[in-house]
Amino acid sequence: MNSTDPIGIFDSGIGGVTVLKELQKILPNENYIYYSDSKNNPYGSKTEQEVITICEEITSTLIEQKSKVIVIACNTASAKAAKQLRKNHPDIPIIAIEPAYKMVHDFAYDKPSLVMATKGTIESEKFHSLYQTYNNHQTYLLPCIGLADAIEEGNSMKIKEVLSEKLKPFQEKVENVVLGCTHYPLVKKEIKEILGNVTFFDGSPKVALQVKKILTQQKLINQKNKGTVTFIDSKKGEEAKQKEERFHKLMKQTENKK
Ligand code: DGL
Repeated sequence: MNSTDPIGIFDSGIGGVTVLKELQKILPNENYIYYSDSKNNPYGSKTEQEVITICEEITSTLIEQKSKVIVIACNTASAKAAKQLRKNHPDIPIIAIEPAYKMVHDFAYDKPSLVMATKGTIESEKFHSLYQTYNNHQTYLLPCIGLADAIEEGNSMKIKEVLSEKLKPFQEKVENVVLGCTHYPLVKKEIKEILGNVTFFDGSPKVALQVKKILTQQKLINQKNKGTVTFIDSKKGEEAKQKEERFHKLMKQTENKK
């Protein structure tokens, strides 16, 4: 393995951009391969076995492309498949993301909190154990069925509709919001329009720090060039082209919306 080898990163679609941006902030010289799995999107309503099978295929592709580390930029895939992927590929570091509920415990445990995530993440054993460990006894768990799909489609009407239906019951009730799906940081502004000036908690900065730590330990930080980003989509043709354009547009937007 060489320091110039790429970092492989994947999500069910373009949500992982929010993780890639954090990675680029502290690892700007790295070469990234971003795999967007439009063909199998969304993951949130799939069974554990389905998610494992899909993620195994993506991981093998990213390993074939010589990835020195794999980043699962999807909370659902992390909750359902990370354990099995690590078992199947013990020689390569696999970094997973989880809803930043521990951060609430560490920094704002005394405030009413809302965890937004896919149904798959909320119902997973992994999240259940995180929730039990850091429960502040004033937390609402909200499976946001349809939200990641609407964001993936870039359908702003649908985004507003889903958010309004899901979030209205929590108006004036919560101060912390955990963004437990990597698509959700893309709609922070729209969430604030309904919930007001809440504090967001997002797991991606911790993932970036973890990747940097592992690469430092293994002496695999790329010092050489200005990093590149290669985009792959599991769909082909026009749809893949459109997804790639959307990906680059999101990457150009300088900061994740506050
Ligand atoms: N971005 C993914 C996550 O973080 C989920 C989207 C999906 O349901 O495919 O959970």
